Amino acid sequence: MGAQELRTERLRLTPPVPNDAAGVFAILGDARTVEHNPSDRLADETAATALVDRWVHHWAEHGFGYRCVREHGSDRIIGYAGVKRMTMDGRPVLNLVYRFVPDVWGRGLATEAAAALVASALEEKPGQTVVARVRPDNRPSQHVALKAGLRRDVALDCEGEDGLDWVFTSSDEE
Ligand SMILES: CC(C)(COP(=O)(O)OP(=O)(O)OC[C@H]1O[C@@H](n2cnc3c(N)ncnc32)[C@H](O)[C@@H]1OP(=O)(O)O)[C@@H](O)C(=O)NCCC(=O)NCCS
Repeated sequence: MGAQELRTERLRLTPPVPNDAAGVFAILGDARTVEHNPSDRLADETAATALVDRWVHHWAEHGFGYRCVREHGSDRIIGYAGVKRMTMDGRPVLNLVYRFVPDVWGRGLATEAAAALVASALEEKPGQTVVARVRPDNRPSQHVALKAGLRRDVALDCEGEDGLDWVFTSSDEE
């Protein structure tokens, strides 16, 4: 999870910089990407600048965080994905997120990014638990969580910003 670029077969995942705000707004200003999580929608680029600033601060404080995703050979930000610190049931966990622009959906890119992030998080922080919180009707995201190596744990389901979240976890503990 170090500050360096993470590479997969098709993707580059880089720590955010302030200049990435326009690309992040292209994702989070689009109603389709926040259909299941409307509270994440950004109204304008100013809001994206503030959000990216928080991501940069998380990196500065913890040495890991969300990353902007680009395809090799392209500067266009097509998504963001990564883990941030969170407390769940009083225990520290790494909360995994992934969100991509609609024109790249269905190519397996989110799975490729999420699998690499889960693997690197568990390698660099052995013993940590990675979780993904997904709305019950967000089937594509549930598929991504499972294909990234997480398993559904009904016991962890919780209320999120937009209602009930199903929880997927890397932990083997029942
Ligand atoms: C969820 C998201 C990241 C998936 O991105 P993606 O690159 O298309 O994902 P992948 O191609 O790796 O895999 C998508 C999986 O969902 C499946 N899927 C796609 N559309 C689906 C649908 N309407 N119903 C059920 N499954 C669907 C795909 O078939 C695939 O699973 P499979 O390979 O097992 O069949 C993308 O749709 C997105 O950014 N959505 C908006 C943001 C979001 O909801 N993020 C998650 C918040 S918890």
